[in-house]
Amino acid sequence: MIRTQVGIIGAGPAGLLLAHLLRRQGIDSVVIEARSRRHVEERVRAGVLEQGTVDLLNAAGAGERMRRQGLVHHGIELRFAGRRHRIDLFELTGGRAITVYGQHEVVKDLIALRVEAGAPILFEAAAEGLDGLDGDRPRIRFENHGEPDEIICDFIAGCDGFHGVSRAAMPAGSARHFGKVYPFAWLGILAATPPASDELVYAHHERGFALLSMRSPEISRLYLQCRPGEDLAAWPDERIWDELGTRLETSDGFRLVDGPVLQKSIAAVRSHVTEPMRYGRLFLAGDAAHIVPPTGAKGLNLAAADVWLLSRALARYYRSGSSDLLDGYSETCLRRVWRAQHFSWWMTSMLHRFDPGDGFEFRRQLGELDNLAGSRAASTNLAENYAGLPLDGLEHPT
Ligand code: FAD
Ligand code: DHB
Repeated sequence: MIRTQVGIIGAGPAGLLLAHLLRRQGIDSVVIEARSRRHVEERVRAGVLEQGTVDLLNAAGAGERMRRQGLVHHGIELRFAGRRHRIDLFELTGGRAITVYGQHEVVKDLIALRVEAGAPILFEAAAEGLDGLDGDRPRIRFENHGEPDEIICDFIAGCDGFHGVSRAAMPAGSARHFGKVYPFAWLGILAATPPASDELVYAHHERGFALLSMRSPEISRLYLQCRPGEDLAAWPDERIWDELGTRLETSDGFRLVDGPVLQKSIAAVRSHVTEPMRYGRLFLAGDAAHIVPPTGAKGLNLAAADVWLLSRALARYYRSGSSDLLDGYSETCLRRVWRAQHFSWWMTSMLHRFDPGDGFEFRRQLGELDNLAGSRAASTNLAENYAGLPLDGLEHPT
């Protein structure tokens, strides 16, 4: 049996960052993670950090390697009808930028800080059930190296992603769940080839959406829209490069350079929100509470915003006994979440092919992209949302 102040389920960005922020406030926590350290450190996922996330990692003393290795981008490109249009994030937002830095690098940095501090983190320790959420000593039942074990704590942070046990532990009727599944998926690759563009490219094409991103000056990260439930076996590397090349082509001669594929995977595209993000002493954060389609690059950033608020609310509770911030946690998070849902849905709807037979929809999207390209007001709206809302209460180091 383990006794701590906050039991944290999941060592993804949400759980690790929460544990780190709490530690800096002198609050003890134990993190349990179902998978191995190696698995979570190698899991290739998100790559775009909003300005607010970067500021938070820096302010929390977790940004040292990110500052050295992250790629700061002042713009993104929209590509449609064979043309390119740059959205100048920096200029349109009065100086905000994004940083391209792999999620697994953030995870590695946060694990290293925790291990270095000798703070508890248990890998291959899967939560199986939660008890006593209504009382003041909630418990996490989990499997510790094959043996049943238990964490008794003051609060539980459910940071166990979309498929975890936390959300499911909320009693029936205590929360509402809102969801949307999109009629396509994303096939993503990591490739050992220098990025063919200095900035991210979001491409609209009659064959479907494509995205050119990167992880370093030597490593490209690319995605293409595919059918839901698509079999990876149907996508040999050559077919992926052909398809990406076609969708990213421009009339001024852009050519994609292929290279060895290091990793490939398919991810579903969906939205989900649980309201409220709390039941009793259980607080959900990150993907456990909400999922957005990846087109707006918001998932990891929402997870960071949640745990920033949760860490402040817990710090206030332990410092002053006041639970006002804990009581406002869900409502405050959900405002940001629904704005991100809207933005992600909008970007997704503007750039993907929903029905290949629907010529009207295709042309409507082109009209929308044309409007964006020609309107500073429309571009500013995209830029503000993409670079992200500031985090309340955080000093912004520049
Ligand atoms: P997770 O990262 O899912 O972490 C949850 C952790 O809990 C996992 O390590 C899991 O193993 C563990 N766990 C699960 N069940 C249990 C259990 N029972 N007991 C113990 N541990 C458990 N977001 C962005 O912001 N920008 C992007 O550019 C972006 N691109 C993306 C591209 C792709 C292809 C995908 C798939 C996602 C992308 N996202 C992006 C979303 C982002 O990756 C997620 O929102 C982010 O991982 C959420 O972090 P989290 O900590 O909440 O959840
Ligand atoms: C990446 C992922 C995204 O979902 C996105 O919108 C932009 C970039 C990436 O993995 O680099």
